[in-house]
Amino acid sequence: MTHKIILDTDPGIDDAMAIFFAFQAPEIEVLGLTTVFGNVPATMAAKNGLSLVELANKNIPVCLGAAMPHVGPESTYAHFVHGDDGFGNINHPAPTGDIDPRTSAEFIVEMARKYPGEITIVAVGPLSNLALALKLEPQLPSLVKAVNIMGGAAFVPGNVTPVAEANIWNDAYAAEIVFGASWPINMFGLDVTYDLPFPPNFTATLREQNQVLGGFVERAARFYTEFYSQGKDEPQCFFHDAFPLAYLIDPSLFEMTEGHLRVGTDPLHQGQTSFAPVGTTTSEHWLKMPLIRVATKVDHPRLTRCFIETYGK
Ligand code: RIB
Ligand code: CA
Repeated sequence: MTHKIILDTDPGIDDAMAIFFAFQAPEIEVLGLTTVFGNVPATMAAKNGLSLVELANKNIPVCLGAAMPHVGPESTYAHFVHGDDGFGNINHPAPTGDIDPRTSAEFIVEMARKYPGEITIVAVGPLSNLALALKLEPQLPSLVKAVNIMGGAAFVPGNVTPVAEANIWNDAYAAEIVFGASWPINMFGLDVTYDLPFPPNFTATLREQNQVLGGFVERAARFYTEFYSQGKDEPQCFFHDAFPLAYLIDPSLFEMTEGHLRVGTDPLHQGQTSFAPVGTTTSEHWLKMPLIRVATKVDHPRLTRCFIETYGK
């Protein structure tokens, strides 16, 4: 079975790795990229998305999305992780095509109406576009098959603050709206993505598997690896955004825990994902939220093999 997806993304180096992984997977049909601010400003995210689509020779829409969080000032972006260009400063040429005239939220709603019950939204950036789409179409949860999110930290520390992961922290109000909607959510947070560091020979293997796409990831990830290797004995980096896609290909790669999740929105807890597994709380603050599934364990060798084999297809 092929999974129709919309990939909501803020490219970004691990986003690029994930986008190519989705393109290479025969089990996945990418209907379009919806982009959002996050690692880089919104206009750069859209242009980067288009560059990746052109590099992969795909003919799919790339939409411009939210430039600002629901509440609060413009984000500070993560150029120190992803480079000034979002691609590790590799001087990749600008795209030649055009950004789609629809906004990211409009595209999500249009596709959900066109393919009711068929689409999985894979969200690997701040959840701003999804919250805007819910405003445009309040019936969206009943039109969408599932929402697979890279974001949050259920039982481990955050990466922006001690309690918050970047995607959720970037637009905590939007995240609280998205986690409060009644659609099946699968969350892949730092619990699993930080559990699997990749050494530099991993990206070299991706390049051997696929000179063009893997070669791009290998070059872009040098800057990213430097960031993630600070204070470590061995160089390493993380490919967060590919995890919710791998789940589509093979759900048995992950152990999932069911429960209720709240997102902190006050300044101290901004973006904190407080997760109560089923049966662990009687608090209405959690029980009133829909049940979601959080990835709490991942099979390292099999996931690594899945990434490598898929790049070679
Ligand atoms: O915390 C990791 C997430 O933040 C990833 O989606 C990465 O691309 C950044 O946006
Ligand atoms: Ca991302």
